[in-house]
Amino acid sequence: MNRGDLTHLAALPRSMGESARLVERTREERLARSLRGKTFPALSLSVRNAWLADYHPDHQLDGKRPLKVGPDRGSQVPVELADLLESRPRAASTHFLNQESELLKADLVTDVLVIGGGGAGTAAAIAAAEAGAKVLIATKLRHGDSNTIMAEGGMQVADQECDSPAQHYVDVLGGGHFSNNADLVEALVTDGPKILRWLEGLGMLFDKYPTGRMKVRHGGGTSRKRLHAAGDVTGLEMMRVIQDRADALDAITVSPFTPAVELLTDDNGRAVGAVLERITGGKPLVVHARSVVMATGGLGRLHFNRFPTSNHYGATGDGLVMAYRAGVPLRDLNSCQYHPTGIAYPERKVGLLITEKFRGLGAPFLNRYGDEFVFGLETRDVTTAAIIRECGELDNGIRTPDGGVGVWLDVPLIDLIHGRGTIEREFPGRFKEFLGKGIDIRKLPLLAYPTLHYQNGGMVIRTNGGTDMPGLFAAGEVTGGVHGLNRLMGNALLEILVFGLRAGAAAAEFAQENARSDTPGLSHLQAFIEQLDQEKCDTTHVGPQLLPTYGAIN
Ligand code: SIN
Repeated sequence: MNRGDLTHLAALPRSMGESARLVERTREERLARSLRGKTFPALSLSVRNAWLADYHPDHQLDGKRPLKVGPDRGSQVPVELADLLESRPRAASTHFLNQESELLKADLVTDVLVIGGGGAGTAAAIAAAEAGAKVLIATKLRHGDSNTIMAEGGMQVADQECDSPAQHYVDVLGGGHFSNNADLVEALVTDGPKILRWLEGLGMLFDKYPTGRMKVRHGGGTSRKRLHAAGDVTGLEMMRVIQDRADALDAITVSPFTPAVELLTDDNGRAVGAVLERITGGKPLVVHARSVVMATGGLGRLHFNRFPTSNHYGATGDGLVMAYRAGVPLRDLNSCQYHPTGIAYPERKVGLLITEKFRGLGAPFLNRYGDEFVFGLETRDVTTAAIIRECGELDNGIRTPDGGVGVWLDVPLIDLIHGRGTIEREFPGRFKEFLGKGIDIRKLPLLAYPTLHYQNGGMVIRTNGGTDMPGLFAAGEVTGGVHGLNRLMGNALLEILVFGLRAGAAAAEFAQENARSDTPGLSHLQAFIEQLDQEKCDTTHVGPQLLPTYGAIN
């Protein structure tokens, strides 16, 4: 870039442009430091803990309330989620509950019902079908519409000579503040190399050197480079190949635009199917199954604390609601991931993801004076706390014309460190997208602010995806325990496949060993409604919510 040429700054509003100029002035110094291997110092454990306590949304009592009913009664959870967990069942509002049992006669019959058509659900369906089961995937939108396809930066797998699943295991536990379920973590990291080979076999196009060797990158909180990516569209590329595999299996049928709204249970307390609503209207569908896999994904579209979100349109926590009513315990409901680098400008993109791969390749965080304020490879929760502190209490953020605020991610430094062309090659999706908005990220830093990205907690599962309810299995973001209180980048794409495949195989085995129930019903719902009445819960909300309720936030 011609150093006298300031025309690229005209793409930003004036006040932001002035601050971006300060970033440019200090870039050479940062480059020199980076080339000498000198990074901004990591925080001490006591400062990390203090910043989390003071600034991270999970640690604030505002916007939380205790649950009044159900297996996790007494837990403090975000109000938006508490309202849904204690909401009036949709199936009750469609009069299912008070009707003759013949209304629960099957419209569809299958061996394994998979609820959710994202990465975890599709993997579960593949494993169940390959084990000989007849499978129905019931999905809210189209097959594949999910947080999986929104995942940009990569999947962690310990496949390099300098790495090992044991090293990966330690990183995952440390990242989760040692609150993870260690058995689930062991399953995650030991299945990793097998999953990588499986994806390669299905034709997934990972980033590689001309020699054929996998390119690996750092993520926040990782001790080794083990992030495998497909540009900045890793989840989309993953979904492409697993969806192709599912399409090729005759035993799998997909029912799009038919979200599950209630589990069916039987007299033995077993999960035996679900009621599906039709998004387009009309009579609900009743599915009888021998076993069920819950894979409904996350809940970013509930916008806790009015945060924007990086999540897809259907991420409304439906599986948590259905499972909770059926008595399945949930864990770490108060723990969410606010991804440090949501887009803060331009306004129309607010909340969408700027992948962590940018900081993995050396883009540091800077305040409005062009000063670095946090170690670039900190874990997400600590980085988020640092950004909230910088923009709030310290008032060092960069203001946008629409009243937003953020900090710079010095993206142009990446080309200086790794060579010209790196940004275009490694981030083809975001590069083109920003260019379309007149912002050339090879020349301008990106403005970032935390966005609601991932639900750390969820249904309690075992290593085969089994839950406390016989016949009910779960996988992916709807579950809790793998990541503890903070997930590291790239472990979600691994998790959905490890536990999706495990849950699908276990659900198929359960279906082979257990005959179809002849008492499918909603008696668990009747009992739950009685609890709501007893505790005088406000049941103005109807759940599952299924789609976001937009108005105040967009
Ligand atoms: C990212 O690319 O930063 C998102 C992927 C993840 O959350 O693991």
